[in-house]
Amino acid sequence: MNLVDVFADPAAIAAAAVDRIEAALAAAEASPTLGVATGSSPGAVYELLRAKHREGTFSLDGVSAVALDEYRGLPAAHEQRYRTVLRRELVGAARTGLREEDLHVPDADAVDPETAAVHFEGRITALGGVDLQLLGLGANGHIGFNEPGTGFDARTHLTTLEDSTRRANARFFHGDLSQVPQYAMTQGLATILEAREIVLIAVGAEKAEAVRAMLHGPVTADCPASVLQRHPRVSVLLDEAAASVLDEQ
Ligand code: GLP
Repeated sequence: MNLVDVFADPAAIAAAAVDRIEAALAAAEASPTLGVATGSSPGAVYELLRAKHREGTFSLDGVSAVALDEYRGLPAAHEQRYRTVLRRELVGAARTGLREEDLHVPDADAVDPETAAVHFEGRITALGGVDLQLLGLGANGHIGFNEPGTGFDARTHLTTLEDSTRRANARFFHGDLSQVPQYAMTQGLATILEAREIVLIAVGAEKAEAVRAMLHGPVTADCPASVLQRHPRVSVLLDEAAASVLDEQ
């Protein structure tokens, strides 16, 4: 863990994240691969990437994008399926130039999830690994959908969502908890740690305690994000509310 920065607002966080993304894609030795996250935290980043694409200064054309996770059990056309969300945010010439065939999302609905997880890992390997992985942070310290208790050696796997995670995400389902899936497929913590660089974004007071535990607590499965302390190249981009209990060290 080597950089923690606090910004005034999500737009300033997005500008810093986009700087990192541009540098990582430019430095990639082979064809670049960007790890993309969903949730509200990366929204301003994607908005800025689209704006830069419109003005002709940025493109994901020729870049591969690898998703962190995907819900299991949502209909193919559901607006909250992460493939649908990422398509809406990034895919096509009218957005960032990312090509549909270059967006890779775990097949969470596979009849045989273990084989699908192995296949997804193989895809990441075939792409040469992830150059930069964007991450959000759950209020319970999760990254991707690696809930507290997940082993650090976990690779892509099917997981059961905590009730608190389902409640937090109900806002994306018109507040209807019963619509939030119980299962998801996620890159494992070991998979995430293999990304060459990581940019984690956390915004809001409800993330403050998880931010503190991630940065200054013990490296423990109780706070899955604490494993990032073992990664050599992580940028943590926060707003003031998310950083608000860091001073109490
Ligand atoms: C979700 C996602 C994570 C995301 C996190 C935080 O459950 N699976 O990938 O980073 O929770 O979400 P948000 O950015 O909306 O707070």
